Amino acid sequence: MEVKLITCGLPYANGKAHIGHLRTYIPADVYVRYLRLMGKNVLFICGSDCHGTPIVINAEKEGISPRDLVNRYHEHFKKIFSAVGVEFDFFGRTDSDYHHEMTVEFVKRLIENGYVYSKEVELAYCPKCRRFLPDRYVEGICPYCGAVARGDECDQGCGRYLEPGEIKEPRCKICGSKAEFRKQKHFFFRLTAFKEFLLEYLEKLRGTENALNYAREWVKKELKDWCITRNLEWGVKFPGEDLVVYVWVDAPIGYISYTREACRVKGCDWEKIWIEGTNADNGIRWTDVTHFIGLDIVYHHCIFWPSMLKGAEFALPSAVVASGMVKVEGKTFSKSRGYVVWVEDDYLKEGFHPDYLRYYIVNYTSHQKDLNFSWKIFMEKVNNELIANLGNFIYRVLHFAWKNFGGNVWDVLDASGDFSVDEEVKKAVEKAKNEIVKAVSSWEFKVASDAFMELSGFGNNYFQSKKPWERVKTDKVECAKTIANCLQIVRALVILAYPVLPFSMEAVGKTMGIDVKNSKMDDALKFEKVNVLEKPKPPFKKVEEEKVEKMEKIMLERIRKAEEAEKAGAEKKPEIVAIDDFLRLDIRVGKILKAERIKKSKKLMRLEVDVGNEVRQIVAGIAENHKPEDLAGKLVVVLANLKPARLMGVESQGMLLAADVDGKAVLLTPEREVPPGSRVR
Ligand code: MSP
Ligand code: ZN
Repeated sequence: MEVKLITCGLPYANGKAHIGHLRTYIPADVYVRYLRLMGKNVLFICGSDCHGTPIVINAEKEGISPRDLVNRYHEHFKKIFSAVGVEFDFFGRTDSDYHHEMTVEFVKRLIENGYVYSKEVELAYCPKCRRFLPDRYVEGICPYCGAVARGDECDQGCGRYLEPGEIKEPRCKICGSKAEFRKQKHFFFRLTAFKEFLLEYLEKLRGTENALNYAREWVKKELKDWCITRNLEWGVKFPGEDLVVYVWVDAPIGYISYTREACRVKGCDWEKIWIEGTNADNGIRWTDVTHFIGLDIVYHHCIFWPSMLKGAEFALPSAVVASGMVKVEGKTFSKSRGYVVWVEDDYLKEGFHPDYLRYYIVNYTSHQKDLNFSWKIFMEKVNNELIANLGNFIYRVLHFAWKNFGGNVWDVLDASGDFSVDEEVKKAVEKAKNEIVKAVSSWEFKVASDAFMELSGFGNNYFQSKKPWERVKTDKVECAKTIANCLQIVRALVILAYPVLPFSMEAVGKTMGIDVKNSKMDDALKFEKVNVLEKPKPPFKKVEEEKVEKMEKIMLERIRKAEEAEKAGAEKKPEIVAIDDFLRLDIRVGKILKAERIKKSKKLMRLEVDVGNEVRQIVAGIAENHKPEDLAGKLVVVLANLKPARLMGVESQGMLLAADVDGKAVLLTPEREVPPGSRVR
């Protein structure tokens, strides 16, 4: 059977997993599990993205090697994925030999096919650190919108990707000094050559509208060639040069290198997937590959990556599925501002069940929309939906069957000789199954999960209307019929809800002897005998209000700390001002005519200063390290248009400029005698 390859955006091995990541990974895993239930042969791969400047910078900060940093987060992500039930068939890493080999092969193909050229470019260079400053090593001003930007992205302004050398007023992020531009040879990918191809590819590409619309709009605008080399040690060496390839070149190639590696282990045929493909039309060779990503990296997957694949003569993915982004308590997700939920510390370690988060992420809203995570809503969804509806129905039925029939209702029914599953039950199960199949094929996971919740709601009503707790005393056969019907619904639910709630549905399945992992979708429609084999337990536990209040407190505290840190940072780091702002200051040379201490003050001195056209009285905090007699006749620098203020009852009509050396004022003075009143600028 043909392999259907599903991939997830590769997590940067540069920090811990947060709920934003799971917004993408959990629905992908849900999709894969549904496909398997439908009998598809799926290969589900992912792995760490180990390169790029943030990893190098963070390793440098911690005083460890990039490899050690990557090892740490690679293991972390593996652990988290297994804890939340995201089960990849293969989870690779881009700092492996097999990936470097594949990337070099790929880049060589691009070069051979004429899609790479070299060019001298002016790049930010830090004279103090004596190095070129790739990507996140540099900070400056966005040439498009004027916002403060990183070297490769205007992350706080217009959101544009910036090519090396584009940023204005660059500064070195390591030492803070002003960077200069220096020439160096770099290599470019001829993205502009792919416009026609992209127009056609994007027309036929499948996926979620959010991704497709965005890409189609983008490709109509002007494309620019991409600089694909960087001055770094850490990364895949660009053939024959002392440069590495840009992380966004090697990372998507990970999809191929991981497939090749996975196939080496599992015996599938990676070339069939990535080279031969499934079918060709108009020069586009398609392959059954679906990329799951977040909305933030659509450009890379719908513009850049297909062009690279086309240029290197690989087959082209048939679908890109983009999840909307995450909000936390209604605010834009932000690690630095504290609007984040860390999967390990805030969720798993606090003892929350992974299935609850899976349900929340899948069921909160459509896959394409932004998802708001709020602890209160989390509690409500778990308690009022998962537990009150699904958990309640399952437990009620299993418990009733166990208590009143020892888990086996069939003995009673067989003896009576007339049992068939109610038509309305059959219909409800069939409806749920059909809705799920349809919803999954268009990546509408909310609709799919609503469908099994609706089936469970139907089950609750059915149970309620038949009143088995009364009948059990009057008509045991009728009662057994009701429970037998309900057990059919439970079996269907176990199978249909399993992709979203794998841990709990596997457990319920076990109680009933259902091997849900190896079941097929149609097993939900089998309507065969099924028993309760052991004393059932409620499948879910309530989320307590106090617990949620605690989590909210943790979050508020984190936000408060982040705000404080930001304030402190803002004080340290002066904002960039325009020259006009500077020119508003009237700074002049002045000559001290007279100086005397102010009584009762250790610090303050009263000065009379000639500022050119007038004599000003200025109070200055210089008494601790200056004597009045040394000051008379001295030239100083005065801020002359400062709003007057009274200090110890004496009016000060200006301010002396001085260097602050450990809290002591060291006065600024011109390098040679100049007339008082000379403007400083
Ligand atoms: N390393 C790149 C992807 C390279 S793919 C060849 C990257 N890494 S990431 O760690 O930032 O994100 C990993 C995946 O999670 C990406 O698919 C990304 O879109 C997704 N998400 C990360 N944060 C997200 C949100 N806040 N919301 C939704 N999805 C997000 O990007
Ligand atoms: Zn910008």
